[in-house]
Amino acid sequence: MVTHLRHVGLAVPDLEVGIQFYQDLGLESATSQNRAILRCHGHDQDQIVLVEGPKRRLQYICLGSSDERFQALQARIEAEKKIVGPPAEIPGDGIWCLDPDGICLNIVVATPADSLGGPETTAPGEPPAINTPGRFNRIGQRAAPPRGRENRPRRLGHILQFTPDLKKKVWFYTEVLGFLLADRVGDALAFLYCEGGSDHHVMALAASQAPGLHHLSFELGDVDEVGQLGMQMLEKGHRDGWGFGRHVIGSNYFHYIRDPWMGLAELYCDMDYIPAGINWRPRDWPVEDSFYAWGPDMPDDFVTNYEEHH
Ligand SMILES: [Fe+2]
Repeated sequence: MVTHLRHVGLAVPDLEVGIQFYQDLGLESATSQNRAILRCHGHDQDQIVLVEGPKRRLQYICLGSSDERFQALQARIEAEKKIVGPPAEIPGDGIWCLDPDGICLNIVVATPADSLGGPETTAPGEPPAINTPGRFNRIGQRAAPPRGRENRPRRLGHILQFTPDLKKKVWFYTEVLGFLLADRVGDALAFLYCEGGSDHHVMALAASQAPGLHHLSFELGDVDEVGQLGMQMLEKGHRDGWGFGRHVIGSNYFHYIRDPWMGLAELYCDMDYIPAGINWRPRDWPVEDSFYAWGPDMPDDFVTNYEEHH
């Protein structure tokens, strides 16, 4: 089974412009040959590998598996005859395979300790001291962050892919790769988590006419960091995607920012967590709950599959 998301490979039309966007978002970049590697501050793990390509496109997704479960996973993928070689110029550890939409997946043996995949592996920092009615956890101190504070994502938390065949895609990610269904919205959306314990969703899938990448989502420390980084991105001239608000499914606070090619980066915090071994019952949510509990009106183009329209 897959235990965690490690990084994604993304092709963009202009490498420098792509690097600048993710640097503005608080990621750190290193270039090697024709690639840019983006990481979260303080963590020795790739989160995005950018390469130059004719248009913005998901090139591959790198997923981690435990050593004990890797062989069984490999056997299931081989049985589906989905094994391929790595894309050109990508160092090829682990298994490379194609999902039902032809999206390239790379699965490597890695321990959650270096995956940033759970609460025990995310740099915790100081918990925010919040005052609520009758409970004063912050006494004699000011809470508002200074205007120019630097806000840096802690990790890549999840991705949302469009798919023309949601049923088949969910089958592959659950039955072959070992993800579990957290929640769904009829035949429109599916949210998948990892069996060993993870955020409410690590992989989310949305029905569309064509495959595509809807968003990459980055975890911030708290509501202030999400709100302030969202505002700072707008001040730097990036386009607003949608937010600030709170989702129903997964419960996370969100602010989406458009990248230079109309893709989305989500800034989030406070997502539901599903631990290993719990009797979690997936719910089929009505469409009216599928987007938000509160926030500004959702822009019409929020659900547009821009990869299909290029
Ligand atoms: Fe998301």
